[in-house]
This record gives sequence, C-alpha cells and structure tokens, in this order.
Amino acid sequence: MKRDKGRLIDAYGREIRSLRFSLTSRCTLNCIYCHHEGEGREKKDKKEISAELVIAIARVASAHFGIRKIKITGGEPLMRTDLAEIVRGMRAFEDDISVTTNGVFLSKYAADLADAGLDRANVSLDSLKEERYDSITRAKNNLPRVIEGIYSAIDAGLTPIKLNMVLLKGINDDEIGDMMRFVRECNKRGDGGAVILQPIELIPTFNPPMAQYKADFGKIEDELKSKASKIKTRRLQRRKKYFVDGVEVEVVHPIDNTEFCANCSRLRITSDGQLKACLLRDDNLVPVESADEEHIINQLKLAMKYREPFFR
Ligand code: 5AD
Repeated sequence: MKRDKGRLIDAYGREIRSLRFSLTSRCTLNCIYCHHEGEGREKKDKKEISAELVIAIARVASAHFGIRKIKITGGEPLMRTDLAEIVRGMRAFEDDISVTTNGVFLSKYAADLADAGLDRANVSLDSLKEERYDSITRAKNNLPRVIEGIYSAIDAGLTPIKLNMVLLKGINDDEIGDMMRFVRECNKRGDGGAVILQPIELIPTFNPPMAQYKADFGKIEDELKSKASKIKTRRLQRRKKYFVDGVEVEVVHPIDNTEFCANCSRLRITSDGQLKACLLRDDNLVPVESADEEHIINQLKLAMKYREPFFR
C-alpha cells in the first residue's frame, strides 16, 4: 500500500486523531438515556458493516492519515461474533484499540479479546444497586454478570478500564462514593490503578425529556476538588482528572458545548458503514461501499468537507 504523510484536518483546523466504529446497533440493554451513537433506534433489517470493511478503513486511515487510535462501540459491540477477528485484523497498524461495552458478555470474551490485541475496555456501569441498574437499563439480572465482566477484564489486562457512569439527577448521582469504593476494591485485584471512574454528563439531545435528569456537575466537581490530592487536566476536551484516596476520577462533560466541539478529533463510522462527521447530525453521512483504497481515501476526504462544529 502506498503511504503518504497526509492528515485529515477540517476547515475549522480540527484534525482527526481517532476513529470510532459502531459495529452493530443491537444491544440486550435499553438504557433510558441512550443516544444510540446518533444512529436512531435499532433496525432489525439493518445491514452491519463487514469485518473486512472495518479493517480496510482502519488500515487506510492509519497508512495515509496517521490515525492510529480506534474506539469500537455499538449497540453492544460484543454481540459481533467476529469482534476478535476485527481487532486482530487491525492490531498491526494501530497504537490503541479500545472497546466500549455494557459488560454483559465481557466475562466470556475478555481473554480472547485481549489475546486478539485489544488494549482497553470502557464498561458502562451506572449503578451498583440491582434495582436501579435494572430500571436504568430496562432489563433484568445483568448487574452480577457485568461485575464479573469487569473482574475478567482486569484479569485479562484490558486496562486501564474506565467505568462509564452517566450521572442522572435523583437516580444515581448519590452513588459516586460507592462507585469509588468499588473502584478501590477492583484495584486491589489488579496490579493497582487498573480501574478509573468516569462520571459522564448526560447528553439529552436525542431524548429531550431526559434533560430534567441532568446532574449538577458543578457541585460534584467542587466535592471532588475538595477531596483530591492531585488534579490534572487532559488536553482532549479539557477533561479533569481528580485523584481521591488512590482512585482516579475522570469527569467527562463539555465545559461548554462550543469548547467540546472545538476540540472534536474523532470521526465516526456507523454500524451500516457510513462515515459520520458529527454525533449530533445524520444529514451528511458518507457511505463506504468497498474496501478499495482509493475509494476509502476519497470518502474520508469527502466526510471532512462536511465537518463543522455543531455548537459554535
Ligand atoms: N449522554 C451521555 N452519554 C451517553 N452514552 C450513551 N448515551 C448517552 C447520553 N445520552 C454513553 C455512555 C455509555 C456509552 C456507550 O455511551 O457513557 O456508557
């Protein structure tokens, strides 16, 4: 394959540094807040992007545009039986491959995925109380399996594991302390510092009535600040990391939406194989129809033309 030193930079100076592949819209949970990666609800007949095409897009993005960071999502990506094959296929030309999973099937697949070359896992965990967990996920009897999945992921070395906790006012925003205790327990199991808590601010765009459950991050961060022994700011999206009693808490929220968009450095690929310039828009999708190198380069460049900050 020919290589060049191209970069994918949009008209607003934002460079693409990672690809975020949705591999399926299927999921056995049905979280009350889910944004479905901006794809709308699951369609039974929706055709899913092939492993071959995923690997081809990743290869071209790496070879031609220096993008060596991959996030794999869904739906629930572990519902793809060829997930390990996909990871194995892209491993050689990536620096960092991670998956965002609900954790339900993780105990079964963690070791295989690590063996295929997966680096890390983010696991969605909004509550440690079964009743709450079930009502947030609108499903039953999954929490113990998710906890087992987290343990398996630690044992398989898919670390650091980030626990995604979407904070919902009056639903789970009183559980940060419990979650930090859980993280501390997990870290005793790994070789230390294996698990990071990641409280996430709700994006209500796809489900406007959920806006009433947006938690008060000002208050939460004030409390973290007062307890932290150390605070770091990540460049990407200016995320703050608090270190409290040996537990790392990385808060994910757009300080304001303008800044969030201004720092966007990811390009999405939908589960049916279209390049998606923005989570919040689906009127400018660019289909990738074959694994042909020139075609993928052209479609990537075309998708870049459509990139503009949603909030500015
Ligand atoms: N707001 C914020 N985060 C969301 N996620 C899904 N929907 C939303 C939303 N409306 C994130 C959660 C979950 C991951 C798959 O996507 O962090 O863990």
